[in-house]
Amino acid sequence: MTMDPLREFPRLRSVVLGVGSCLPEKCVTNDDLAKQVDTSDDWIVQRTGIKQRHIAGPDETTSTLGEGAARAALAEAGLDANDIDLVIVATSTPDWTFPSTATQIQAALGLTHGVAFDLQAVCSGFVFAVATADKFLRSGSHKRALVIGAETFSRIIDWDDRTTCVLFGDGAGAIVLEARPSTGDLSERGVLTTHLRSDGRHRAKLHVDGGPSATQTVGHLRMEGKEVFRFAVGQVTDVVTDAFAATGLTAGDLNWFVPHQANRRIIDMSAHKLGIAPEKVVATVHLHGNTSAASVPLALSVARADGRIKDGDLVMLEAVGGGFTWGSALIRW
Ligand code: UT7
Repeated sequence: MTMDPLREFPRLRSVVLGVGSCLPEKCVTNDDLAKQVDTSDDWIVQRTGIKQRHIAGPDETTSTLGEGAARAALAEAGLDANDIDLVIVATSTPDWTFPSTATQIQAALGLTHGVAFDLQAVCSGFVFAVATADKFLRSGSHKRALVIGAETFSRIIDWDDRTTCVLFGDGAGAIVLEARPSTGDLSERGVLTTHLRSDGRHRAKLHVDGGPSATQTVGHLRMEGKEVFRFAVGQVTDVVTDAFAATGLTAGDLNWFVPHQANRRIIDMSAHKLGIAPEKVVATVHLHGNTSAASVPLALSVARADGRIKDGDLVMLEAVGGGFTWGSALIRW
């Protein structure tokens, strides 16, 4: 007889067991960059809040950084890689066009069972991957997931373009999720709700001008910064209000708001618009720059390690990226 997982486990919730991160060894300050392009620490800090970023060395790739973050998350969870049966890697900078970075990390972790695949939603990738893993786990088809955001944007940056090269950094972050029975009460730990959106009409505003099918090249990142800024502040808060509407929770109930770390001004303006108190905002953009899909799990990792995020805290993740894509995930940690 075939088991119907949804009938067998009428209510499952994806509970966070661990979070971890991995950064390239090399740290580049704004003053370092000012020696290469016509910019200054003052301009970068005033416009973005970024003070430094990590840049991958020749032996560091998206998969090595992702593997490091995965190992750190497994260590916090007290689990072995073999306890995992689902690996999702959010990245727009895979080691290779194929096979996927997820299968590279799966092999590096010594995992030979389960399933591993990449997911591409640019800077929203980690939130999209959390939502995807949550749907797998709540269906009962898989038990424990590694959700990884890993990027090496330094490899697709035009290092002569001062309007973009000062903004981005490399790194990886990961969480371990486990399917656990739940009564459905919002006070119980786990992913409470996720909301994803995309609108492909905005491709030109934030894109890479190369790809295997279109140009047979890797290409460089191109951005209409002002347009992206306007969209990020003007539109994407809808996925956060959707999360509040779905749960009946409010900005006042949140312990932490962990948005995509692209620009301190976007972070502060979004929090203000949503009525989220400044002291509940986790901002790490000054440390890492914009690490695309790695930015939210890196911020989570920092706020968990320094004792801010505690078990039972209500944490709102939010991100926006190329496409455009945007999404939220509300988690009882
Ligand atoms: O992860 C996905 C999302 N990406 C984002 O969220 C990025 C969103 N956009 C932004 O964060 C901002 O638009 C930027 C930080 C990219 C730019 O800030 P801005 O306040 O919109 O500046 P701007 O583009 O209007 O540029 C202002 C001036 C220009 O000079 P003029 O034309 O006024 O003489 C630029 O040429 O600043 C100049 N500029 C720079 N100056 C020094 C641009 N880049 C630099 C630089 N250093 N690196």
